[in-house]
Amino acid sequence: MKNLVDKLEKSQILSHSEIKTLLNSKDNYLHQRARHVAKTIYGNKIFARGLIEVTNYCKQDCYYCGLRRSNNHVQRYRLSEAQILDCCKTGYNLGFRTFVMQGGEDGHYTDNTMAALITKIKSQYPDCAITLSIGERSRESYKRLYEAGADRYLLRHETANNAHYSQLHPSEMSLSSRKECLQNLKEIGYQVGCGFMVGSPGQTLDHIADDLLFIQEINPAMVGVGPFVPHSSTPFANRQAGDLWLTLNILAILRLMKPNFLLPATTALGSIHAKGREHAVLAGANVIMPNLSPTDARQKYLLYDNKISTDGETAANFSNIKQSMKEIGYEIISARGDYLEI
Ligand code: 5AD
Repeated sequence: MKNLVDKLEKSQILSHSEIKTLLNSKDNYLHQRARHVAKTIYGNKIFARGLIEVTNYCKQDCYYCGLRRSNNHVQRYRLSEAQILDCCKTGYNLGFRTFVMQGGEDGHYTDNTMAALITKIKSQYPDCAITLSIGERSRESYKRLYEAGADRYLLRHETANNAHYSQLHPSEMSLSSRKECLQNLKEIGYQVGCGFMVGSPGQTLDHIADDLLFIQEINPAMVGVGPFVPHSSTPFANRQAGDLWLTLNILAILRLMKPNFLLPATTALGSIHAKGREHAVLAGANVIMPNLSPTDARQKYLLYDNKISTDGETAANFSNIKQSMKEIGYEIISARGDYLEI
């Protein structure tokens, strides 16, 4: 196992079966090396992104997601422009210099609406980065929003295996169109994030090894990896949540594969384990995405059951996570936290 970690650290490409060996590792060594490598690049600093959950309407019907259009138990909402700007204001005053606008795929947010919003946020907060996470759109749309001032885009690929992709999504969705979107986003100039859930129904270690090789190939700036967590009103209600340790191994492998990756300690990880996000940082993660959404919206933006930080004040939640990072020797800083090509 140690020789494989050393191989990764020397930037050598691992084979599929070597990656599987590392995924199965029960040794702390992998995490220790990943933590060390993260420290050489980012020190003990953690970047914060303020998450604004703009809409929970979604035209898609992904089998794993609580916001899928077939879930009629959801009380749907859309934040107004004024509400979104208010979230930015609160976030800015707390020190956030990146705002992530995330939402379901909601036709209400046309290119005009989104571009106007982005322009407004950028004019009020020129020192902040804007990340979008609003699903699959046309190349023209991505271009328009980039020109309006968006800097980054998160679109998880979910799985790099076609057959597995169709176990997770209805037939109108495809891995090829997801890949095309990621390609378009990169070509336009966004800092792009892809990623996947750990332990999603039907996923094997072979799939994960393929995900990691796929990520190496598309070379994104960010990789979002968190455990699958079941939602009670979806077809996957009775499936098991993803595993903490396996998720940590994946984060550590990613950190060693590409020392400068932006790797969030995800909310999903914090939701399956009280110290999930702290463990993620200790395995190489360097980004945290606290929620800036209004409390009543947060309670309706439930991708999965038992999501953390759905209540309490934004400021209080942020202060808790700051404190818990401090306890493990890390500091959340006020910075845009752009991806640095090395
Ligand atoms: N468990 C964990 N993550 C989920 N996501 C959606 N549903 C779930 C779930 N049940 C993730 C997907 C999506 C991101 C916004 O949230 O990977 O891309």
